[in-house]
Amino acid sequence: RVGAIRFSSAEAAAVSLGEPQAPGGMAPTKDSENDSRKKTFSEILAERQVQAQRTVLINCPPNFNAKAFLKYLSQHGNIKNHFFYKSKAMYAVIEFSEKESITSLQDVITIPEFKDEYPIPFKSRILTLMLRKQSDPGSEQTQILCHRQTSIPVEMLLKKLCDAESVSEQLYLLTNECQLTEENTKLRFLACSLIQDIASAYVPDCIVKPFGSTVNTFGKLGCDLDMFLELNKVGKNSAKRKTSPFNIIYQMKKAPSERIAAQRILNMLGEFLDNSGPGCEGVQKILNARCPLVRFSHQPSGLQCDLTLNNRIALKSSELLYLYGSLDPRVRALAFSIRYWAWNHGLTSSIPGAWITNFSLTMMVLFFLQQRQPPIVPTLDQLKKLADAEDKEVIEGFDCTFVSNLNKIAPTSNTETLDVLLGDFFEFYGNFAFNKNSLNIRKGKEQNKPEASALHIQNPFEENLNISKNVNAAQLQRFVSLARDGAWILQQVEKRPLDNSKPWGLAALLQASEPGRVGKGFKRLNVLNSDRVKDLLNSLKM
Ligand code: CTP
Ligand code: MG
Repeated sequence: RVGAIRFSSAEAAAVSLGEPQAPGGMAPTKDSENDSRKKTFSEILAERQVQAQRTVLINCPPNFNAKAFLKYLSQHGNIKNHFFYKSKAMYAVIEFSEKESITSLQDVITIPEFKDEYPIPFKSRILTLMLRKQSDPGSEQTQILCHRQTSIPVEMLLKKLCDAESVSEQLYLLTNECQLTEENTKLRFLACSLIQDIASAYVPDCIVKPFGSTVNTFGKLGCDLDMFLELNKVGKNSAKRKTSPFNIIYQMKKAPSERIAAQRILNMLGEFLDNSGPGCEGVQKILNARCPLVRFSHQPSGLQCDLTLNNRIALKSSELLYLYGSLDPRVRALAFSIRYWAWNHGLTSSIPGAWITNFSLTMMVLFFLQQRQPPIVPTLDQLKKLADAEDKEVIEGFDCTFVSNLNKIAPTSNTETLDVLLGDFFEFYGNFAFNKNSLNIRKGKEQNKPEASALHIQNPFEENLNISKNVNAAQLQRFVSLARDGAWILQQVEKRPLDNSKPWGLAALLQASEPGRVGKGFKRLNVLNSDRVKDLLNSLKM
């Protein structure tokens, strides 16, 4: 008999209605479960990076005895954690207790031989399990639980949402269903660690860190993996220099500007990933972007990756979102649902263009929550006041200081429900004076727009930058119209109908994106879809 593959219902079982789970994928790791103090963002990141370095990724044949294989692997050391998932093939993620176990395992791994092709001998931690001989069929009957790495289909989600009891419960349910799982987060940190191995062959001691939706607690299963290569810390050892009369420096090639240096390094890395990076496919070098990047698909993990350089401010912004997302369960549920709503209506896109980004949308939600009476989240200036001496951080001349200890932030006394907040969010932005005002989460106040962009949201750290400069008037108008529609739809179908006859609340909002479903919005949505096609073509030309 063939070993059965069961898809995990573990996530579904973990969904508790009306209450959100620990921050999507960024809950402290199991190691720290008994620790009552909330870990800081940097501590969680560091723990997960170390975990990832002790982990290997193994492509497994469809039918095999997983139990026997795990036993075989544990000759090299204790397996602390493992799970299986399916992308194009079935993979096992094996985390050893000690990094040395991987060295021991590597002693028995061989280089493949191909018939008419030749291997590029980069020895990564992505491996393939080959079965030597047909084993006893009786021993193959192990059931392998494969963890889901993608969001549930919208249709299925809508059904579940209709069964909830309130809009508030719907928002928590959506968040719990679609957020990154523990396994998916592990896979994301592993992918970064694997890319770090490749980059280290060129720049020893570099670090590849994830940022954006992988770590900010607002990530949806299937979202892109933003990562950056940190080089700055390499070779900086000023303490030694000061005490000695001698100072020895490396001879290095020079580039006329930091940007050109970044472009050259990313260009090399792009080539390297393309030629020697196991599993790295479709490598694109997008070096003329404001923030140069290399985009590629990491096939074994099934993740679409964007690699940038020295993006420490972006990591700080991700930490800020993480902190806001961890303060009050309503923050994450509201921001997560708005991001999902925007994605579902085609307001956001993974293709660069004039659309609103998820970063901007999240800022809009936070700004809205700062306007409530009493406010649900503090301003960035208030978070800065709570900072300790060790929280002080100035990156590239910008003050990125804010408190890292979550325990120091007093909970809000605001008790509004998400039913109220969702409707009011749509009303707030359906009527916001975007033509005059800019959103500023540092001050928690709207300010006069300093420039003519359609949408102005001040970058929290690089205060002279507008994070939504890319958004054009047409895309902003789409957002405003959909927000107004949202407020209207919610007023009509706020409560669950007794006979469960039609979608209501959040389900009605999401279903309205499907042409023909909502008579009222149908015509306008079609026009807007053609705007979207135009924008898409323009961005492709760019
Ligand atoms: N960022 C920025 N300025 C922008 C856009 C993005 O500094 N104009 C940085 C932010 O640090 C943000 C990160 O890039 O956290 C990722 O942005 P984005 O991809 O828009 O947000 P994610 O939360 O990663 O959402 P997605 O799932 O769409 O990738
Ligand atoms: Mg992102």
